[in-house]
Amino acid sequence: MANIVTITLNPALDKSISVPELVPEKKLRALSAKVEPGGGGINISRALKKLGVASEAIILSGGYTGKTLEALLSKEQVAFTAIETEGDTRENFVVFDEDKKLQYRFGMPGERVSDQELGLLMQAIGNCAHVDYVVLSGSLPPGTSTTVFHEIAIIAQQLNAKLIVDTSGDGLKAAVKEGLYLIKPNLRELASLVGKEWIDMADVIVTARQVIVAGACKAMAVSMGADGAMLITATEHYKAAAPQAPVLSTVGAGDSMVAGMLAALTKGWGWEQVLQYGVAAGSAATLHKGTELCSLSDTDRIFAEIKKN
Ligand SMILES: Nc1ncnc2c1ncn2[C@@H]1O[C@H](COP(=O)(O)OP(=O)(O)OP(=O)(O)O)[C@@H](O)[C@H]1O
Ligand SMILES: [Mg+2]
Repeated sequence: MANIVTITLNPALDKSISVPELVPEKKLRALSAKVEPGGGGINISRALKKLGVASEAIILSGGYTGKTLEALLSKEQVAFTAIETEGDTRENFVVFDEDKKLQYRFGMPGERVSDQELGLLMQAIGNCAHVDYVVLSGSLPPGTSTTVFHEIAIIAQQLNAKLIVDTSGDGLKAAVKEGLYLIKPNLRELASLVGKEWIDMADVIVTARQVIVAGACKAMAVSMGADGAMLITATEHYKAAAPQAPVLSTVGAGDSMVAGMLAALTKGWGWEQVLQYGVAAGSAATLHKGTELCSLSDTDRIFAEIKKN
């Protein structure tokens, strides 16, 4: 069994409700309410658990929201190490309008994290023994320098682990300085990585190869929402289409996709199947409302469909 560590620097307590119709002034009665642990790495660990793969989530966590988040992770039997922060863990809020089938996402600002707290997080990562994969995903707490991503990449290398990164903007630019195993940008994030406003699907392979040849990563999965994804290495490239199914919520699609790819990697599968299983898991996450991640049965069913095409 591969040893996987996920890292979440900016976790969140995700609250989601659905209302019959979102209208101003009126008192709205929630039809359902859910509280879940969230943030890139945490979601990947939770999705991995659903896919039957164990991992350990290293997180920053503070205040009563942090305690709730930790209790929820324990309930889901996701192993974690929490570095306590003085500031409270932030909250996110999702409202689903049942009438219009539309989703509204609100993010509360997070609190700053001190250098000492970040230092303890780095120590916790460095102390991990026999790690095969380190997964760095999500945003940075407000005020934290993107160089932290580069520092984590260096630690992952010292651990001899394969580093997988799913983040955006300057954070991604800082992480790739070290030469990563796999990155999963969407089209917008890939464009930003190469200093462009936008990239057409037709230019994805050429652009990805430029990034790979420059030494930024060994492989790149470029996700394209409803259009599925492509996976590019120095010598191979594959495309997988997402299935046509009614989409209820795309929240967590990217995280589920990374978890799917990782689950496939731990089975020793080749890049084409790694991509297909990732797309299957990403699309599986869209079949449910709110923040729900991929289920194993949906992922396996969609994977079988993708392989047939
Ligand atoms: N509308 C959709 N229909 C079908 N599948 C989808 C849709 N949106 C996303 N997916 C699936 O999830 C994968 C990742 O989605 P996407 O490209 O939107 O990632 P992202 O932009 O990183 O998303 P996130 O907001 O979760 O970070 C896609 O490759 C696809 O398999
Ligand atoms: Mg994403």
